[in-house]
Amino acid sequence: MTDLSGKTAFVTGAASGIGRAIAERLGRDGATVIVTDIDTAGAVAVAGGITGAEAHALDVTDDARFDALIDDVAAHLGLDIMVNTAGCIAVAPVVDTELAAWQRQMAVNLDAVFIGARAAARVMSAQIARGRPPGLIVNMASGAGRRGVPMLAGYCAAKAAVISLTQTLAQELGPQGIRVNALAPGHIETPFWEEIAAGFAAHTGETAGAVIERFRAGVPMGRFGTAEEVAAAVAWLASSDASYVSGQVIAMNGAELPW
Ligand code: NAI
Repeated sequence: MTDLSGKTAFVTGAASGIGRAIAERLGRDGATVIVTDIDTAGAVAVAGGITGAEAHALDVTDDARFDALIDDVAAHLGLDIMVNTAGCIAVAPVVDTELAAWQRQMAVNLDAVFIGARAAARVMSAQIARGRPPGLIVNMASGAGRRGVPMLAGYCAAKAAVISLTQTLAQELGPQGIRVNALAPGHIETPFWEEIAAGFAAHTGETAGAVIERFRAGVPMGRFGTAEEVAAAVAWLASSDASYVSGQVIAMNGAELPW
């Protein structure tokens, strides 16, 4: 348990899966959590279960709305922990991938991380000038950002770029004490996998269940991870125990190597 009382955490993609678990964990640890998602009803439901949380509709590809919401939150609560979790995926070989599908993955998985991290860095810098302690930015990459995976070209490329963006940001913001890290989860049991399994099944002829079993069998620890196991890493990064950790890619993947 990390004591995050007095801190404000902004989480994108927080209506489901990993984002939801991060919002719930940071809320349990005492932070005031801003629960955002394109799925407004889902965000409202998640925020309803977290003491003191606020829910806001946010499509992370809407840069004007994203900037305005960060500014608004910073103005009335301040901003200490920015977690860019929202993501999407499309499963297809490169030769069958439409440019629009490629661009959508770049927009949600990469461009939105740039927009969110930039907005957070700006308000955190201004806060430091007024005496608030430096904040923390956590960007959701993936094990898929550290190697190519057949039928996931756009997703892998976007996540690799998130790692690169994180490394640059950490160096640019380091002098102010703002820490920036990326997470690289392996296979985590969330609704995301329904879409992934259906996508692979459509191309391979496997059942969705067989796809899941194939990926599970490739994990040395023999199981998918839980969203809570990813959220625990965010809580640690937000704690003083991680005060010298920045520019890193933190993996939780049941010993899948190499990454
Ligand atoms: P999920 O499908 O359970 O949740 C994704 C959330 O993002 C949903 O609530 C969805 O509404 C939201 N979202 C999608 N597009 C959005 C947009 N344009 N604006 C705002 N919100 C949007 O998926 P999961 O598994 O929780 O994934 C969360 C993040 O973790 C993603 O970035 C994903 O790439 C990453 N990840 C997931 C892994 C897994 O095995 N589940 C492994 C590695 C990374």
